[in-house]
Amino acid sequence: MIIEGKKDLVRKQVQFWRQQGERIAFVPTMGNLHEGHLTLVKRAKELGTKVAVSIFVNPMQFNNQQDLDAYPHTLEDDYEKLKEFSVDLVFTPTAQELYPTGSAGITFVETPKLSEMLEGASRPGHFRGVTTIVSKLFHIIQPDVACFGEKDFQQLAIIRKMVTDLDFGIEIVGVPTVRCDNGLALSSRNGYLTEEQRRVAPDLYKILSAMVRKVTQGQRDFATLLQESNTEMRKLGFLPDQIEIRDADTLESCNHETKRMVLLAAAWLGKARLIDNIQINCP
Ligand code: PAJ
Repeated sequence: MIIEGKKDLVRKQVQFWRQQGERIAFVPTMGNLHEGHLTLVKRAKELGTKVAVSIFVNPMQFNNQQDLDAYPHTLEDDYEKLKEFSVDLVFTPTAQELYPTGSAGITFVETPKLSEMLEGASRPGHFRGVTTIVSKLFHIIQPDVACFGEKDFQQLAIIRKMVTDLDFGIEIVGVPTVRCDNGLALSSRNGYLTEEQRRVAPDLYKILSAMVRKVTQGQRDFATLLQESNTEMRKLGFLPDQIEIRDADTLESCNHETKRMVLLAAAWLGKARLIDNIQINCP
């Protein structure tokens, strides 16, 4: 497994593979790898003949310095995990390598509307940071295909739109959310939960699942449904940031013709801001 922090060397290595006729599959991450990330790597191995993974905690997508400073760095463990999956290349740039002049004032990529709603409204500038870094990584690696988790549903939608709008010519593959047996979506931020909060956290998925059952049974009074779930979450100790039912393709509000919906939730539990979603196919 090649571990490399310099973008020019990574570019050369991948170009060499491409000349050899290899198909490059790419998984961008911020490290602290868990089974969710590794499922993306497994999928990438099915889709390409060479797999590249990036590990970079991207300062530009964090809303505050505290959150950035607290983000877990576990590089040595991450390398061990990636070795087990026979990953071919790990790109681990420093911030200096990718933002030599800092990220303020640099050229950025942004998907209007999609990046301003939902998570974007709660975390201004977050998606600009994501699309800018993913564009940079795509330009350095130039993969044929890249995998992203449905766990970050809005992020996946934004990346798909960016790739289409800007003709990146990269296939984007979404991978279903990987969960613990108790339903809790795996996330690096689960590490911020106390033991007591870890017992409560799976209830987020339970509440979402109950809402999905009601919608598939024909409940269309979304306002009441969302309000009831909000109250239930608060009783359990969550501080809901947003719970929304949206059109799964546009992330706009649903209308009577919407067939593919997505239920999206973000809620604080202690120091962790948990996000989750479930897609709903209406008959
Ligand atoms: P990070 O949070 O490390 O996630 C990397 C990838 O793993 C994302 O595509 C994310 O959706 C996916 N992922 C995380 N938890 C998952 C789970 N439980 N099941 C399935 N997939 C999961 O997302 C980012 O990093 C960054 O924004 C990044 C795209 C790397 C840009 O900096």
